[in-house]
Amino acid sequence: MIKIDGNTIILRGRSMSYIMYVNECGDLLNFHFGRQLADEDYSAMKRECEEKLGYTSNVRSLDVYPQEYPAYGHSDLRDPAFEVVNRFGNAVAELKVKSLKVMSGTAPMEGMPSLFNGSGDAQTLEAVLSDEIIGLEVALYYTVFDGYDAVARSAVLRNVSDSAMTILSAYSASLDLPVNDYEIIHFAGAWGREREMYRTKLTTGMKAEIENARGGSGHQINPFVMVAEEGADEDHGGVYGFSLIYSGNHSTAAKVDQFGALRIEQGINPRQFRWELEPGGEFYTPQSVLCYSCEGIGALSREYHDIYRRDLMRSKWAGKTRPLLLNNWEGTYFDFTEEKLLSMAKAAKDIGLELFVLDDGWFGKRNDDTSSLGDWFVNYEKLPSGIDGLAEKITDLGLMFGLWFEPEMVNADSELYRAHPDWAIRVGEREPVEARNQLILDLSRDEVCEYIIEAVSKILSSAKIGYVKWDMNRQMADMPCLGYNHKYTLGFYKIMSTITGSFPDVLFEGCSAGGGRFDPGVLAYMPQIWTSDNSDAAARLKIQYSTSMCYPVYSISTHVTASPNHQNGRVTRLKTRADVAFAGTFGYELDITKMPEEELNEIKRQIKFDKTIRTLVRDGDLYRLQDPYTSNYCSWEIASKDRRRALLFSCKILSVANSKDKRIKLKGLDPSLRYVNTLTGEVYGGDVLMYRGIRIDYGTYDFATEIIEFSAI
Ligand code: GLA
Repeated sequence: MIKIDGNTIILRGRSMSYIMYVNECGDLLNFHFGRQLADEDYSAMKRECEEKLGYTSNVRSLDVYPQEYPAYGHSDLRDPAFEVVNRFGNAVAELKVKSLKVMSGTAPMEGMPSLFNGSGDAQTLEAVLSDEIIGLEVALYYTVFDGYDAVARSAVLRNVSDSAMTILSAYSASLDLPVNDYEIIHFAGAWGREREMYRTKLTTGMKAEIENARGGSGHQINPFVMVAEEGADEDHGGVYGFSLIYSGNHSTAAKVDQFGALRIEQGINPRQFRWELEPGGEFYTPQSVLCYSCEGIGALSREYHDIYRRDLMRSKWAGKTRPLLLNNWEGTYFDFTEEKLLSMAKAAKDIGLELFVLDDGWFGKRNDDTSSLGDWFVNYEKLPSGIDGLAEKITDLGLMFGLWFEPEMVNADSELYRAHPDWAIRVGEREPVEARNQLILDLSRDEVCEYIIEAVSKILSSAKIGYVKWDMNRQMADMPCLGYNHKYTLGFYKIMSTITGSFPDVLFEGCSAGGGRFDPGVLAYMPQIWTSDNSDAAARLKIQYSTSMCYPVYSISTHVTASPNHQNGRVTRLKTRADVAFAGTFGYELDITKMPEEELNEIKRQIKFDKTIRTLVRDGDLYRLQDPYTSNYCSWEIASKDRRRALLFSCKILSVANSKDKRIKLKGLDPSLRYVNTLTGEVYGGDVLMYRGIRIDYGTYDFATEIIEFSAI
C-alpha cells in the first residue's frame, strides 16, 4: 500500500493513489492525489516538475510547485501550512526531506483521537522534514488502510534548536491540487439548522476560509469540506473530502493561486492560536482524513461512513444495535417527579422501547436552567429514591436507564462555583460572559478535569446506568490566553478517554445544544450524536441529508417528538416524523403517557419495524436519491453490503395538485436478483428498481413520506 521507490513515494488505496516526489533540492512535492494510476513510470510527472521555473527568471521557485507542507517566505509566497517564529524573530522557513520511513500501524497522536487500526492493516509513512538553519523539524504522517480511498494526515512540529520558538499556525494537512475548475462544498448553519450545505465556485484570488472560532467544532461550521471538480454530482466526477478529527476551533482554507492551482489546508484555526515550543518540545496537530472519489459525492460519503465505522468509533457500541429510547426532555422539560418518570418508563416498556433516558434537571437544585451545573449529586426532593433507586426501578421494568450530564460547565449559582470561583474561565478582571446562565470550566487545569472525572464516575458507579448523554451547551468566550481553545480541547479528550475507558459498557451519546459538536473527535468516544435540537421532521430532511455527507447514518441520533413541533411550530403526521427518524439511532422524545391509544398503536408498529431494520441502518451503504436542497423531494436508500436488502425513504415536501412525480431509481442493488416489497408482497426485478425506477403514491399531504423495504427472494 505504501511504496518508496527511489525518490518517489506511492500510497495506494482501493482506487486512488497519492504520489509524492522528493526533488533534487530535497523538497517534498505532490505528484498526484486522485484516481489510481497503474503506470509506475512517473517520468512525465518528474519532467513537468523539473521544468517548472518560478517568477524570478532563472531561480527555481517553490511558488509554483505542488508541495506537501509548504513554508512561507523563502521562495513560496502562498499561504503556508505553518508559521513558526524562530530565534531570529522572523517566520521564514524552508523544509527539506531528512528521512522517509514506512511503518505498520497508525501515526503517533498525543492526547487526541484519531483513526485506529481496526483490522490491523494500516500502514503509515513518516516523512521527516527539517530546516537546519532555525532548528525546526516537522514529521508528516500519512496513514492508509487496505481497501479504502483515504489518507489520514497529521504533523508533529519539533524544536531541535536551543532557543524557544512560537507556533502561530500549524495545519494538519496541506494539499496542492492542479489547475482545474473547482467548487467547494461546506456545511454551515446555526442552532436548530445545523449543517446546511453550500456549494461555491472557487476563483483565482479568492480565499475560502471555512472556519469556526466559537469554542466547539460548532453549529456554524462543520469541520468537513469537499472540493469537487466542476460538474461532479452525487454519482459522477472527482471529489475530495477533508474531515478533521477535532472538536475545537478549526479551519479549512482554500485558495486558487495566480496560475490556477488550488491549495487547501485543514487543521486547528490559527485565530487566537499561539503555542510556545521550548527547545526539545513537540506539538502534535490533530488528524485530517482526506478521501478521494472518482464516482461523485455519494461514493465519497460511503468511504467516510465505512472508515469511520471501522476505524474511528472505539466504543463497544459502535458495531452493536442501539436500544430504542424514550427521552423525557421534550415530554416534561424540568417539570418531573419520580412518579411521572416511572409512569413514562412503564409506558415506554409497554410499547416496546428499550431505554429510558432522564435528561436535564435531576441534580443540585436545578428546576430551570439558572442553577446547579457542576453539582453532580441527586436532587432528593425531586427523586426521593435517588438515581440509584430510580435506575433500579427502571431496570426492574426491563429497560436500560440513561442519564444526562453537562460536565464541562458550571452555573454561578452552584456549590461548585461558590467553592471554586477560579475554576471558571475568565480574562483577568473582566466579568465573564454567561450564556444560558452558565460559565465554562477550565479544562486546561488538571484538578478541574479530575473533579469532572470523579463526579461523573461516582454517579456512574453508584447506579445501573447504561447510557449517558454528554451535553455542552454554550460557545466559548473569554479565552484566557492564546491557544487556550486547544488546551481546553485536549482536556475534553482526556476526560472522555478516561471516562469512556473506565465505563466501556456504557453507551455515550454526544450533544451540544443539539448538533453543535457533531464531529469525528466526539464520534471517536461517543458512537452517536444528537443531531439538532430541531426535531421537526421537515427541517430534519435537510439536516440529516447533509449530515450524512460525512457521518455514518447510525451515528445520527433521531427522535420522534410532539406535533406541533416545539422548535418551529410545524404540524406533521406521526408517520412522517417516524419515517424521517428511521434513518438514524431511533427514539422518542415526548410524553407518551398522554397519547391516544390509536397513536400508541401506531408507535408500537414503528418500534417493531425499526427493530427489523436497525442492523441495516447500522451497517448498510447509504445512497442519496433526491436532494431536498434543489427539489421538492428528499429520498435516500440504505442498501445492505450484500445487496440483498434495501430500505427506501422518500418524502414529497409540499403537496402539489395533479403532480408529476418522477420515478425513483434505486441504487446499489443486484440487477439480476428479484426483490419483494416486504409490506405489500409486490415483486420487482433489481434491474426494474434500478434502471426503470418505481413511482410512489404520496397522497395529498405536505411532508408526505413513504418508506419501503425490499428484500431479495
Ligand atoms: C440541550 C440539548 C437538549 C436537552 C437540553 C437540556 O439543549 O440539546 O437535548 O438535553 O440541553 O437542558
